[in-house]
Amino acid sequence: MRIAITGGAGYIGSHTLLDILGDGHEALVIDNYANSSPEALARVKSLSNRTFEMSEQTITDQPSLSETFQQFKPEAVIHFAGLKAVGESEDIPLTYYEENIQGTISLLRAMDGCGCKNIIFSSSATVYGLPDYLPFDEAHPTAPINTYGRTKYFAEEIIHDWTKTDPAKSAVVLRYFNPVGAHKSGMIGEDPAGIPNNLVPFIAQVAIGRRDALSVFGNDYETKDGTGVRDYIHINDLASGHVAAVDYIAEHTGFEAINLGTGRGYSVLEVVAAFEKASGKPIPLRYEPRRKGDLANSYAECDKAKRLLGWHAQFGINEMCEDVWRWQSQNPHGYRDN
Ligand code: WQD
Repeated sequence: MRIAITGGAGYIGSHTLLDILGDGHEALVIDNYANSSPEALARVKSLSNRTFEMSEQTITDQPSLSETFQQFKPEAVIHFAGLKAVGESEDIPLTYYEENIQGTISLLRAMDGCGCKNIIFSSSATVYGLPDYLPFDEAHPTAPINTYGRTKYFAEEIIHDWTKTDPAKSAVVLRYFNPVGAHKSGMIGEDPAGIPNNLVPFIAQVAIGRRDALSVFGNDYETKDGTGVRDYIHINDLASGHVAAVDYIAEHTGFEAINLGTGRGYSVLEVVAAFEKASGKPIPLRYEPRRKGDLANSYAECDKAKRLLGWHAQFGINEMCEDVWRWQSQNPHGYRDN
């Protein structure tokens, strides 16, 4: 298939691009490099031994996006481009709505303009909000508790309404749990700008000596050891979930929301222990109060992905940490080392 990938130079985008190329598809990457690097694409090129098209542009510029699509004529779009920091979304909500909602509308219009009827959307388990029950299945009520989560939820609804305008349209929204890890080669990985918000990139920077200690946000939750429990999923499992979704939308129409997780939760302290083992480096800890808006527990029910996509996660927490450590130790400053 001819597949356009928005945000294809980013963390999840670049790993998915590599798998999409490996599966024999033709790709066009659309990225404005707001939180990504051209170096990631150069490395995907050398890892895949394949070429693909690249257009440096922002998806909110609808006329220019439409023109790009008229030329490339995508048969499907995988939509990653967007802003993703929960804390920042509370400070600049309008920017989040512009990029994540306006961007999605602009993209759907550009797709309509060239007759493209298939989309896979990068959504998030954040759409569920506080758990009524666990594990989160796709039927769980959606009531996000922050602006970022609401932008993902509204974008899902917009895409759902879009599919209803034509029985030939097909959309899969993938609700990611906590993506971590890096490609086995150590050549591509997560390269957060500034101080990492997320647990595993922060631990990796402590291990490599860029930060002195990990702040553990809360150790009085009702969990196995008092620290927050999450469903971490290896980035290569996440990428292969997208390849499976591409196969699915080629054969099915309508709208589906599907969780991508492992179904298993690990506490902060368990992740720290796995990372210490993988890296051989001690991770000094500093206990701090709970972080605003954090849940005690979050993990996925993964049956729907298995049933519809024939997909399930392969990698465990040890491989996630080993692969992050390979990437971090080969690229202590991420893509800026190049
Ligand atoms: C995991 C656990 C923290 C950092 C967020 C977004 C979600 C998705 C993934 C998408 C929690 C604890 C963390 C630290 C810590 N983003 N922690 N010290 O909050 O589950 O999910 O990222 O694009 O939408 O909400 O992930 O990695 O931030 O936190 O103790 O320095 O680690 O309290 O229990 P989270 P996280």
